[in-house]
Amino acid sequence: MSTINYSEKIPNNVNLSEDRTLQRALEHWQPNYLQWWQDMGPDGSQDFDVYLRTAVSVDPQGWAQFGHVKMPDYRWGIFLNPAEADRKIHFGDHKGEAAWQDVPGEHRANLRRIIVTQGDTEPASVEQQRHLGLTCPSQYDLRNLFQVNVEEGRHLWAMVYLLHRYFGRDGREEAEALLDRRSGNADNPRILQAFNEKTPDWLSFFMFTYFTDRDGKFQLCALAESSFDPLARTTKFMLTEEAHHMFVGESGVSRVIQRTVDAMNQLKTDDVGKLRAAGVIDLPTIQRYINFHFSVTIDLFGADQSSNAATFYSSGLKGRYEEGKRTDDHVLKGQNYKILEVADGQLREKEVPMLNALNEVLRDDYITDSKGGVDRWNRVIEKAGIPFKLTVPHKAFHRNIGTLSGVKVSPDGRVVSDHEWNQSVEHWLPTDEDRAYVASLMGRVVEPGKFANWIAPPVIGINRQPIDFEYVRFN
Ligand SMILES: [Fe+2]
Ligand SMILES: [Fe+2]
Repeated sequence: MSTINYSEKIPNNVNLSEDRTLQRALEHWQPNYLQWWQDMGPDGSQDFDVYLRTAVSVDPQGWAQFGHVKMPDYRWGIFLNPAEADRKIHFGDHKGEAAWQDVPGEHRANLRRIIVTQGDTEPASVEQQRHLGLTCPSQYDLRNLFQVNVEEGRHLWAMVYLLHRYFGRDGREEAEALLDRRSGNADNPRILQAFNEKTPDWLSFFMFTYFTDRDGKFQLCALAESSFDPLARTTKFMLTEEAHHMFVGESGVSRVIQRTVDAMNQLKTDDVGKLRAAGVIDLPTIQRYINFHFSVTIDLFGADQSSNAATFYSSGLKGRYEEGKRTDDHVLKGQNYKILEVADGQLREKEVPMLNALNEVLRDDYITDSKGGVDRWNRVIEKAGIPFKLTVPHKAFHRNIGTLSGVKVSPDGRVVSDHEWNQSVEHWLPTDEDRAYVASLMGRVVEPGKFANWIAPPVIGINRQPIDFEYVRFN
């Protein structure tokens, strides 16, 4: 077994070189992690020098150091945001008490479950994206993919740190299991369904990083409120990295749209056949991808009524998005919230106790946030003078969890018959033909400064480097 020089190899602010228990746990786990990266990390990329951002400390100078690195040599670190002196629990039944520096026995199982569920999504997304490098539209994009991948790897480290440090033997077993599950594997799949779906092409990747990484943001924001202080501090630091992932998604989709509307104006057509013949992705297909990724992602927030959600909140494990900025009592007993159900063939609002509806509260906050980028995409279309508007579908569309699970609802929010659904679904969700067409565009473009035909170049490079910078050296 290799010996690890902790302060050299693993940048951290958790006093790792003095913590024997943590060292012993990592001695075992770290080589298995590297093996997992070899097996399941970006395909064929182990030897590339990639212009990556590495966090070496949590201060503004240290969390974004840029340089060419081979990904297996990336310095995956363990960082917590600095502690807040005398931090108090600020919601739920323990409101006003001191935040926990250790795991209270009665919340151990729930906290472990929350950490494992979050941790499982991190390697899952790396697995989902592992073949994308083979069809990258440019070096710039390839570098962004790899940046997202190494940071998801670091997010796994962040959750494993908590398991190793605070959960003893159970935690070590869970940390191993995080390296054993595989996205999409029939026998040992990842925990959440959206993380077992394929990310087969770059349009899917950009949609995933826009919509599904944003789910990550909201989950992390809710955990950043936690009474378990190490979890709050770990997730706060993870959020600094998450912003880049959503930028990759938003700007990626925006550049696809830019290229499409340019072609529409050049060819003076909105004919899908002609646009596809010209090798760009038509706007209706982009809309169907939005419908798919949005609906699959909002399922991740869980059932609209959940006693677990109530327990997690009242016991102080998981807060609401921006809990501290809200002006209510932060206990929520006796308060109600509106959820949707179907009655007499129509969607209808129903008031339920808010504590049980906290998944829905988080989902609604997410929906508001995710509309912002779609508005910005529409500005690209508007600026080109094209009368077409992208939208996110109604939240009851294509749902697989909670009260709305399996109910047939159109993207504009009408309950429809099975017949209408079957007639229309090809206009609402990506068809096999759409996916095959998008797949047919995926060729590898790696010459510096060159971009695939279906996507416009970015406005600026990474870390103020030129767009034709050598972001990846292939050796
Ligand atoms: Fe992540
Ligand atoms: Fe992410």
